[in-house]
Amino acid sequence: MSRWPTLRRVVLHAATVASPALAVLLILLLVGAIEPGTTAIAMVAVALSTAVLVWPYVLGVDSLRLAVDRLEQGDDAPGPDTGPSESLRQVWDAVRRMHAEKEAGRLAVEQRLQAEEAILAALPDPLILLDSTRRVVRANAAAIALFAGSPVGRDLAAAIRHPAVLGAADGVLAGEAARAVEFAQALPVPREFVARIMRLEHAAGMLDGVAALLSLHDVTAIKRAERMRADFVANASHELRTPLSTLVGFVETLQGPARDDEEARDRFLAIMHEQAHRMARLVEDLLSLSRIEQDEHTPPSGRVDLASLARATAETMEMKAKSRGSSIDLVVADGLPAVQADADQIAQVLQNLIDNAIKYGRRGTPVAISLGRSPRGTLAGGRPGVAIAVSDQGEGIPRAHLSRLTERFYRVDPARSRAMGGTGLGLAIVKHIVARHRGLLEIASEVGRGSTFTIHLPAADPPVRSEQRSSRN
Ligand SMILES: Nc1ncnc2c1ncn2[C@@H]1O[C@H](COP(=O)(O)OP(=O)(O)OP(=O)(O)O)[C@@H](O)[C@H]1O
Ligand SMILES: [Mg+2]
Repeated sequence: MSRWPTLRRVVLHAATVASPALAVLLILLLVGAIEPGTTAIAMVAVALSTAVLVWPYVLGVDSLRLAVDRLEQGDDAPGPDTGPSESLRQVWDAVRRMHAEKEAGRLAVEQRLQAEEAILAALPDPLILLDSTRRVVRANAAAIALFAGSPVGRDLAAAIRHPAVLGAADGVLAGEAARAVEFAQALPVPREFVARIMRLEHAAGMLDGVAALLSLHDVTAIKRAERMRADFVANASHELRTPLSTLVGFVETLQGPARDDEEARDRFLAIMHEQAHRMARLVEDLLSLSRIEQDEHTPPSGRVDLASLARATAETMEMKAKSRGSSIDLVVADGLPAVQADADQIAQVLQNLIDNAIKYGRRGTPVAISLGRSPRGTLAGGRPGVAIAVSDQGEGIPRAHLSRLTERFYRVDPARSRAMGGTGLGLAIVKHIVARHRGLLEIASEVGRGSTFTIHLPAADPPVRSEQRSSRN
């Protein structure tokens, strides 16, 4: 800092402080009480001594001003040289205290904002803040991820083109309290959302205090489940209605035109028996499926020797295979570990797979069952497993059908499956049982050659050795 302004202020302050004494000297001169020479010497002496006295105070104020400037820029060292003035030192202390309090307040607000920002960022639902012109002013991380880039600064229409959402946003910005609309997004993957738009009055940071908060909730899974449930009810009703209307038709025929026709009665009763049987199987399969689904979250705890179970199940299916000129060949690798399983459910899986292999295999060709270890890394968590594969030499399944085969009531050739008495629930049951066992179902098929259905089941933990058991007893 230049010396001159300081010097000027020293002169100014000294003149102000010395003015009463100088005025008194002038009056004394005017009334002739003192000589002009003496007056001049006295006035110079008063002015100089006042300047010497005022000097350190002016320097102190300058130094204080500099220190306050530095403090504003975040540097409070070195403090001011306040000279002999105790008051200036107290002013400096007060300024420092106020500054520290202001800083602490600013920090607290900043931390709170950061915490709120972190909460917004962590919210899984996309959130967007709109100003009164429908421009996006803020978007959380989920929204940025959904729109593959930040929509901030652009009109909402640049992010969501759906007219219903834009209309709802306009309505809310025009004065409505809130609106919710459903919309579907086709790209990059089809998804369905519920958009909720809420009006925010007196929103901080907004030009006219008006804003709207738009939140998007992904309802794709819920909608899919709703559709699946509706499809399932429609399918199940359809499957039951077909044999039921056949039954009703024959009952009416037997009550009317065929009342006295003995030969027709026997024939019709056989058909009715078969249809009733089919309905019973359908209901049984549906109940079985719902029971398995209920248990799906509790893995089985039993230990099962798959080789003996496969042998026993194959024996029960032998007759059916023979009736189609087929046979069941079983090959078991040596030293297989037991699996952690529910024996009844795994028997049900094998029955379904062997039944399919017999039904859809070419007449006269064998069904092959082979048991071995699952390749390393097949099961989740690298667990060791046992694989059981059921192969047929049938016409195979076109690739387009493979992914849908385990859906309830899904059939490659519905008429043929029904004609064979199938409910279309067999593989759905297999899938749910395998899922409950934390296992894996693999389907490989080649059109014209045949199919192989393989299930991998986790090996059971080795049994506790007898010494360990006896040591615990
Ligand atoms: N080994 C196979 N070869 C060819 N197609 C098969 C085979 N296994 C299943 N499929 C096809 O998958 C469909 C679904 O099989 P799933 O076992 O669920 O029903 P289904 O056999 O028709 O009836 P259900 O099992 O109740 O008797 C079958 O209708 C058939 O089209
Ligand atoms: Mg089947």
